[in-house]
Parts: sequence; C-alpha cells; structure tokens
Amino acid sequence: MADTTPVDWSALRAAAVEAGTHAYVPYSQYPVGAAALTEDGRLVTGCNVENSSYGLTLCAECGLVSELHRSGGGRLAAFVCVNGSGEIIMPCGRCRQLLVEHAAPGMQFDTVSGVRTLDEVLPDAFGRGDIDDYRATQRSDS
Ligand code: THU
Repeated sequence: MADTTPVDWSALRAAAVEAGTHAYVPYSQYPVGAAALTEDGRLVTGCNVENSSYGLTLCAECGLVSELHRSGGGRLAAFVCVNGSGEIIMPCGRCRQLLVEHAAPGMQFDTVSGVRTLDEVLPDAFGRGDIDDYRATQRSDS
C-alpha cells in the first residue's frame, strides 16, 4: 500500500475502538486501542495491558506490533490509536519510536490534527541507519 492509497479511516478507527474493549487497565482505567493496516492489507490491532509494577505496562502499540509479526510480519501502512471514548489520541514518545521501526515509508497516521506522517510527529528519528552508518565507519577504520 503506497502512502497515497485511500484508507477507510472510520473502519480502522472502529477496529481500534473494538481492540480497546479488551484493554486490561485496573490501575489507570484508561483503555487504549490501536489498529493498523499492513502493506499487504492485513488488519492488526492491540490494546494496553497494565501491570502492578507500573513501568511494565504494555501500551496498545506494543500489542499491535506483536500481532504484526505473529500474523506474518511486514510493515504498517496506516495507523490509528483511540481512548475508551473512541477519541483519537497521540501515541506516547516511546510508541512513536516503536512505530518508526515497523512502519512502511510514508505510513499514514491519523492524529488529533489530521492525517500525518511519522516524520511529522517524530522528526529526525533515530533508526537502523544510524547504527549501520556507525558500524560502517568502524569497519573502514580497521
Ligand atoms: N497508553 C497506550 O496504550 N498507548 C499510548 O501511546 C499512550 C498510553 C496507555 C498506557 C497506560 O495503560 C494508559 O494508557 C495510561 O497511561
């Protein structure tokens, strides 16, 4: 799916709302659902799963990325994330980085300020290229 492919955002948002109904949130009572389409057209979803050791909480995006790989891998082409009222929310900083790792180039991303790209919400992101570049300089030095 190219970054200009039309996306049925209301269907994707409905899938995120449904995913959020499975959230395990005894501590925050703040359910989150995430839904995405893969480049090959699969729907993947996730919900947040909290823990009494708060820092171990899994955001909805974590479950979605696990589902991406469990269901065949590939990359995310369109993504949306909602709270328990069905309102779009922005992924936390950590999850923006998580999405960078698994997004297709130009992934469409429905946000509180309209459809955006990940580069707009996490500019100059750290990525695999930084590691590759560094390692290449190490090889040429030896
Ligand atoms: N949460 C997510 O699932 N994704 C985000 O991007 C932001 C925060 C969850 C974590 C926690 O269970 C609850 O929202 C309140 O922070």
